[in-house]
Amino acid sequence: MGKVICVGLGPGDPELMSVRADRLVRAARHVAYFCKEGRQGHARQIVDGIISPDAVEYSMEYPVTTEIPLDDPRYNEMMAAFYADWSAKIATVARDTDIVVLCEGDPFFYGSFMHLHARLQGKVEIEIVPGITGMSGCWTSTGQPITWGDDVLTVVMATLPEAELSRRIGDTDALVVMKIGRNLPKLRRALEKSGKLQQAWLIERGTMPGQKVQRLVDAGESVPYFSIAVVHGQGRRP
Ligand SMILES: C[S@@+](CC[C@H](N)C(=O)[O-])C[C@H]1O[C@@H](n2cnc3c(N)ncnc32)[C@H](O)[C@@H]1O
Repeated sequence: MGKVICVGLGPGDPELMSVRADRLVRAARHVAYFCKEGRQGHARQIVDGIISPDAVEYSMEYPVTTEIPLDDPRYNEMMAAFYADWSAKIATVARDTDIVVLCEGDPFFYGSFMHLHARLQGKVEIEIVPGITGMSGCWTSTGQPITWGDDVLTVVMATLPEAELSRRIGDTDALVVMKIGRNLPKLRRALEKSGKLQQAWLIERGTMPGQKVQRLVDAGESVPYFSIAVVHGQGRRP
């Protein structure tokens, strides 16, 4: 019997991988990773220099990314079939030998692996290796602490409805916003409403080649997939 080992690879810079992640990836003989159709995938890119040339690779190509709206029932059907198919394939490999699944950042922090994890529960042994999150890499790149004193930190997805996004942004000291993409205009309005637009930073490709750190007000109209906005806490006193 082998096991499924999901390895968190950190925010992008390969040097921000844990010693354990590095050891497991180097030793892996079977390696799976998510990617867009026809692309190598970001997690696979991070391990480019250390993965064995003899490793058997399984590229789990998403059947759909932005082509169908998230609220279209076909989207859920296609993704559910995709995750069911790959969890079955991974379980088959793990019956004989270990298989490493690559994950950006930390696997249990909004990672796609969660969909496989839920389906593999009770069927195979699973090990998770935590990683430095993308947001940690991003706020570090701004050179300022994200929270201190009694600051409350809120992590939100920009995909939330605008009213909820505004409410959450208004009700926190420090803020991290993920999954920005097409939601940038909505995010700008929500930040403006709570008086936080001027303090917001936008980090594109944090810790990766091409990293860009700027004030959100100076950013253009579109952002890459790997983008995070932050508002630093001011050090709330008890
Ligand atoms: C599906 S979540 C994956 C989160 C990941 N598991 C983690 O621990 O950071 C993808 C979102 O994470 C954010 N993200 C992750 N790493 C990033 C990085 N290095 N730079 C900018 N954004 C990043 C982006 O907002 C992106 O839309």
